[in-house]
Amino acid sequence: TTILRADYAAPAFLIDTVALEFDLVPERTVVRNTMRVRRNPAAGRASNLELVGEQLEFISAAIDGHPSAAIRAHEGGLTVNDAPDAFELTITGACSPAANTTLMGLYVSGGNFCTQCEAQGFRRITWFLDRPDVMATFTVTLRADKDACPVLLSNGNLIEQGDLPDGRHYAKWEDPFKKPSYLFALVAGKLVALEERIRTGSGKEKLLQVWVKPQDLDKTGHAMDSLVRSIHWDEERFGLELDLDRFMIVAVSDFNMGAMENKGLNIFNTKCILANPETATDTDFANIESIVGHEYFHNWTGNRVTCRDWFQLSLKEGLTVFRDQEFSAAMSGGNENEAARATKRIEDVCVLRQMQFGEDAGPMAHPVRPESYVEINNFYTATVYRKGAEVVRMYQTLFGREGFRKGMDLYFQRHDGQAVTCDDFRQAMADANGRDLSQFERWYSQAGTPRVRVTTQYDEAGRRYRVTLAQDYGDASPAARATQSGPLLIPFSIGLVGQDGADMPLRLEGEREAGGTTRVLELTEAQQCFTFIDVPEKPLPSLLRDFSAPAIVEYDYGNDELAFLLAHDSDPFNRWEAGQRLATRELLTLAEQAADGRSFDMSDALVEAFRSVLTDESLSPSFRALALMLPTETYLAERMAVSDPAAAHAARRFARRRLSEALRQEWLAAYERHLTPGAYEATPEAAGHRGLKGSALMYLSELDDPADAVRLATRQYDIANNVTDRMGALSALMNAAAGKGGDFAKRPLDDFYARFEHDPLVIDKWFALQATQRGRAERPVIDVVRGLMQHPAFNLKNPNRARALIFSFCGANPAQFHAANGSGYAFWAEQVLALDAINPQVAARLARTLELWRRFTPALSAQMRAALEQVNADAKSRDVCEIVQKALAS
Ligand code: ARG
Ligand code: ZN
Repeated sequence: TTILRADYAAPAFLIDTVALEFDLVPERTVVRNTMRVRRNPAAGRASNLELVGEQLEFISAAIDGHPSAAIRAHEGGLTVNDAPDAFELTITGACSPAANTTLMGLYVSGGNFCTQCEAQGFRRITWFLDRPDVMATFTVTLRADKDACPVLLSNGNLIEQGDLPDGRHYAKWEDPFKKPSYLFALVAGKLVALEERIRTGSGKEKLLQVWVKPQDLDKTGHAMDSLVRSIHWDEERFGLELDLDRFMIVAVSDFNMGAMENKGLNIFNTKCILANPETATDTDFANIESIVGHEYFHNWTGNRVTCRDWFQLSLKEGLTVFRDQEFSAAMSGGNENEAARATKRIEDVCVLRQMQFGEDAGPMAHPVRPESYVEINNFYTATVYRKGAEVVRMYQTLFGREGFRKGMDLYFQRHDGQAVTCDDFRQAMADANGRDLSQFERWYSQAGTPRVRVTTQYDEAGRRYRVTLAQDYGDASPAARATQSGPLLIPFSIGLVGQDGADMPLRLEGEREAGGTTRVLELTEAQQCFTFIDVPEKPLPSLLRDFSAPAIVEYDYGNDELAFLLAHDSDPFNRWEAGQRLATRELLTLAEQAADGRSFDMSDALVEAFRSVLTDESLSPSFRALALMLPTETYLAERMAVSDPAAAHAARRFARRRLSEALRQEWLAAYERHLTPGAYEATPEAAGHRGLKGSALMYLSELDDPADAVRLATRQYDIANNVTDRMGALSALMNAAAGKGGDFAKRPLDDFYARFEHDPLVIDKWFALQATQRGRAERPVIDVVRGLMQHPAFNLKNPNRARALIFSFCGANPAQFHAANGSGYAFWAEQVLALDAINPQVAARLARTLELWRRFTPALSAQMRAALEQVNADAKSRDVCEIVQKALAS
């Protein structure tokens, strides 16, 4: 059944307090749930109270302490007929944590108990009004075997603990804040904590803990530092202080997503929390910082103010992603260092384009605030998170940091303690800034990626420069088109670059004087003209600076103009963007040549542009590493008229070889110059050097004669004191071996396994490296992957492991996955179905890798359709069925 946003109705009953008592036993945990229930004065009168419950064993129930014939447990829930206006309802039931492979509700991971309740996991623990607009205060008593579970944690404050007979013990927790059930959590098991005490703005002392398995205690420092920085940053930037005396993070190795913001007890996938230099890459370090920030920031944007219903998910997720992006940008270089901020921005935009633009182009296209869903877990999407964050960012672009802060302040003033909507947030921004933002609502209700087409006209005699902006949605998918009703309010940031490479002061027609060199034009019509006056010479437009809106900009730049912008634009994002435009154009031409069976013909424009970036020592190494990265095969395939992964692969490979040959000396010099000898440093600068060094090594590994790469990479592998260098060396060796047919990657690959055998997160990397490797004719990667499925360390039930091998192959190795013989699709269907029976949420994610099937060459697309139909016939879960049915219907 499809749930519609339009069907929202306030709950007929409210639950004010919940007392939960758990007798934790892996096979059968008994849960006693005592609730104070009353009629919702603001809702229509319903006579019955309907609670939801799933996969629960009913034991007993009572109203105000007495058994009652009015209570009826049934498939899917529990009904109280003719419920009183206010009463105490006690329900006792049981669930099976050890048998729970869905990783929703209460489950066992590595011998410890933990929970995941968002979005609808609480109903797998006990019967409840499991919806975010029902907020209650929770008291939780945990009882468990003292040896098996020495540590017992839940939300809020520990108010009591002690021993029980039979080697058991208990702990009682109380969360003083009202919260929806999706923020409930418990953890019980053998854990140790890194602790820190800090003082927050009001002078109160707070206890911070990062709980992990004993062997992981040496990987908690970075998480703790990130948490402390998050707490301080949120106070400084938004005036938001930690409201609990105690804040806990727990690492869990079986987890469907990245992490979860349970009140006062954040639960993290180990991948998103554990780090030391030997086991976590520079990218992992950066991700951990931003995810720790993200979950912490949810304490205000998500927990104190939560969502009225799940259609409003972006209210908390878009806003909190925006906040974590701003936090990471500030940490990577401070507000002053614009180049460092830009690096973060570029990375975020890459993710958006790669994940969200593709989503918008396919059958799962949906607005930031969806109108309907079958399974809400399928809507934790790039659109809700990433495009949602861009939508929030646009308020800041329109009103500036101060205006944005005013809007945030008003939002909390109005809505603290409430469950609200995206409209409420927009209204707070509008009122705080004295603006009518009704048109802006379309960013929430319209799916599809807007396109802005730009034309310009310079009138030399009149010294006028006219910029015409026209918006539409290009060739949006039918799913997206169905939601579109009119033009958006697009903040379009622009600068004009003079022939000397400097920005011109800007003066729009009607303005008394020039001011500033970057302007945010507000595009509100389908087409609009903006005229700059006093323009002394024909400028080069720098369009959509800092990516001021999640849109595609089309403008007819010449190659020389792009090279000029790459060399001179004062906006670092657009400098990078110019290089990407140049590369994308070049690569798409090559890909069309490959698709048509023509021979490759590539101009020198890209080589020369890359040469100047690579050798420009005034640019930060991290920026250069990004600028020297070609768009991915997936990105290119999606931009081809007909997606042809083999052609995209051949094109990219040709360009990489060309760039490696033409710039061989420069790559070698860059490699040597950016070596990072001595003790490992975790700073962004050091990471930048490692990144650029890694790029150089990868390019060198593309050469027909990869001797330099093999020599350098072998040495780098042998002396590495961190996993970034170690993996960089290993990938380069594997890449060189794929081109050359040598087996010089074998020794380090085996060494890597032996070295990290007891470190699951690093073994995940070992699986992923092999799943994403370049194939060789005599050994297609599907064979390697099928072989690895039989490896003793492979375990389909562990999402990280499944993602490392299966998702890496199906999602990040397009040329091999889309093999002409359909072997990838057969594998995909097998694995989606295998996962469907274990963990529907993870299965549905994998199912999504075929959703753009209609865009592919007819030969591939026919085979993809057959695989989708097979899954559709055999899948059981709502999660997977929604995805494949939408794909087939597209
Ligand atoms: N709220 C979490 C976060 O983004 C994500 C949890 C999603 N879990 C799920 N099962 N859908 O921080
Ligand atoms: Zn979140």
